[in-house]
Amino acid sequence: MKSHEQILGEQLTERRQNGLIRSLNVMDKLADFCSNDYLGLAKNQSLADKIDADFKALNLTSINGSTGSRLISGQSIQVEQFEKKCADFHQAEASLLFSSGYDANVGLISSIAQKDQVVFCDQLLHASLIDGLRLSKAERMIFAHNDLVDLENLLREYPFETPKWIIVESVYSMDGDMAPLRELVYLKNKYNAEIILDEAHAGGIYGPNGNGLAVEMGIEKEIFARVITFGKAWGNAGAVVLGSQTLIDFLINFARPFIYSTAPSPHHISSLSTTLASLETQFDLRKKLKENIEFFVQHSKSNHWGPSKTAIQTFFISGNQIVKKKASELQKAGFAVKAIVYPTVPKGEERIRITLNSLTKKEAILALIKTMETHA
Ligand SMILES: Cc1ncc(COP(=O)(O)O)c(C=O)c1O
Repeated sequence: MKSHEQILGEQLTERRQNGLIRSLNVMDKLADFCSNDYLGLAKNQSLADKIDADFKALNLTSINGSTGSRLISGQSIQVEQFEKKCADFHQAEASLLFSSGYDANVGLISSIAQKDQVVFCDQLLHASLIDGLRLSKAERMIFAHNDLVDLENLLREYPFETPKWIIVESVYSMDGDMAPLRELVYLKNKYNAEIILDEAHAGGIYGPNGNGLAVEMGIEKEIFARVITFGKAWGNAGAVVLGSQTLIDFLINFARPFIYSTAPSPHHISSLSTTLASLETQFDLRKKLKENIEFFVQHSKSNHWGPSKTAIQTFFISGNQIVKKKASELQKAGFAVKAIVYPTVPKGEERIRITLNSLTKKEAILALIKTMETHA
């Protein structure tokens, strides 16, 4: 009889043999081309000082932990104020804080997508949205990535009265391209659907003050729910769902990751409030990021590069082993980059995923492009 350890160990061995093993490594000494710290706020000393000062000034009694879930003992004036400010900032009626974007997506999708409803998902949705769907009782239809014709053909198959959800991302995490939001709004109105928009890679970057792509495009009122995550351009952690007060009341009652989990700590909530105030004024950092993206796109010439015009860039090298070898060469050369392999991306679409940020130096961009394009 196999021991429990043996059962797990065999699965790891199989992964290793297939070149799919995942492992953890520290890359903080290398030039950052893989973090989601798009504005460099995770490393910003003056923000860190302000976070400390603002927290001390609150003079709270519970300083270390929130003491319980929001529905038991974890509710606080600070979290209420943060959610109100966050909703106003994103031009939404209300917001609800979750411990992570993963929790927000799982809680949102698993609770609102119900029996006798249909969810239309872009093929490249993030795992957190997929996991939310796995827990939901709604029917799931997948449309080809950013393919409006495919989506409309699927929408047409259902009676107008059937409640429908369309789930998309502002900026797709693996390909760095954007959802055709205006066209999606047209389709959702035509077919009695509502849009769920994951703004993980757009929050903090797009919009007049970093308040997201929907606000930048002036379509925020057309989107039923937006998810803004704080682990990326905000340089922090956590996420909010933005929407109507009814949606937020519904989530407080039905979103299980919200209900059955300890509330974020007082320090975490305070740090998010300070970050929000800072983010609104970071025009220079957003400008710098946009300049770095333009510079990168202008100088990357090889046809291995994908067409992205965002901070997420892709260099396609087919095959798990080959792309991993290339990533490890790049790491040895001083660049923090990651290979994204099958099954995270479809077979044949393995790639090195590059992320740019406001602090990326132009010389480092040129050096990376040169190293990548040589012997590609
Ligand atoms: C599109 C998208 N949504 C949600 C998440 C999850 O957010 P978090 O890291 O805050 O759990 C990620 C994280 O990579 C993401 O890329």
